[in-house]
Amino acid sequence: MSILGPFFNPVEWVKAHKFNKENSKFDKSSYDLELYLYSKILNNNMLHWGYFEDTNVLPETISLKQVEDAQVNYANNIIEQITDTQNPVLDVGCGMGGLAQLMLKKKLKVEVLTPNKNQIQYINSNFEGLVSHNCKFEQFESEQKFGTVINSESLQYISLDDAFKKADEIMLSNGRWIIVDYFRLNETGINKSAHLLKNFNEKLEEYNWKKVYEKDITLNVLPTIAFANMYYTRILLPVKHYAFEKLRFKKGWLFYLTKNLRETIDKKIVKEKAAIDPAQFVNEKKYMFFVLEKNI
Ligand SMILES: C[S@@+](CC[C@H](N)C(=O)[O-])C[C@H]1O[C@@H](n2cnc3c(N)ncnc32)[C@H](O)[C@@H]1O
Repeated sequence: MSILGPFFNPVEWVKAHKFNKENSKFDKSSYDLELYLYSKILNNNMLHWGYFEDTNVLPETISLKQVEDAQVNYANNIIEQITDTQNPVLDVGCGMGGLAQLMLKKKLKVEVLTPNKNQIQYINSNFEGLVSHNCKFEQFESEQKFGTVINSESLQYISLDDAFKKADEIMLSNGRWIIVDYFRLNETGINKSAHLLKNFNEKLEEYNWKKVYEKDITLNVLPTIAFANMYYTRILLPVKHYAFEKLRFKKGWLFYLTKNLRETIDKKIVKEKAAIDPAQFVNEKKYMFFVLEKNI
């Protein structure tokens, strides 16, 4: 059938409409494409930016193995902050379960939670005996109380009020809440995917929490951001240019008709690139490591 065949077939138009309707309904938290992509690139079940000891390492010299090692480093830094080894730990937004896997090896009692269906299926079939909850943190109900709650690069997905209320509800009164995530420094900036640090600090006061540990780890995560940016700039963008130009020369009519689609792709690229621009990240965000306890 010619490439244009479906365009002139009314039955295909009806099917296309139905297909579009079904596929536009998907809930990002239950099937997050970006996270799925990273889980295929990195092999150690972790979906965060990692922690590099050497903050001056050049992106061109970083290997995927070094990124994975930095991620394990980051996870171990979190585990070091767990002081209660008797009561269960809840890993909120557990991703592919890499952190939980390390905690289990240290004989900690762990439960994990994620709204993402792929992640939960992966965890249930790979980590036998690990208690998992397939829901958003906001909707989590639990009879038992946790000694430690961890949000490793997952607080940004949850409204601050919901997160603080739920932490109060499910934690022991002397529990520890470990939050490692990036925060925005101001309202400006193309990428809005993080809480404002100012708002987070206000909520700490409002809900009566104190920081018992606080570290700015922006420079330690920056090598991974620079690494991602390098691949984006030096491989993905040239390949995209190659593909579009190839289309222009080989099927000029299709290139002409898909102008709007290509413009949409270019706009998306500008936005995604801004999120992994190291200079912009430093200007607009701080990656923070917090350990919180309740003021008593
Ligand atoms: C960037 S990943 C981090 C994964 C993991 N914590 C890690 O460090 O490898 C963000 C995680 O937050 C989860 N998430 C998104 N929205 C959430 C919500 N409302 N409640 C709990 N987790 C959520 C995602 O499904 C994902 O597992």
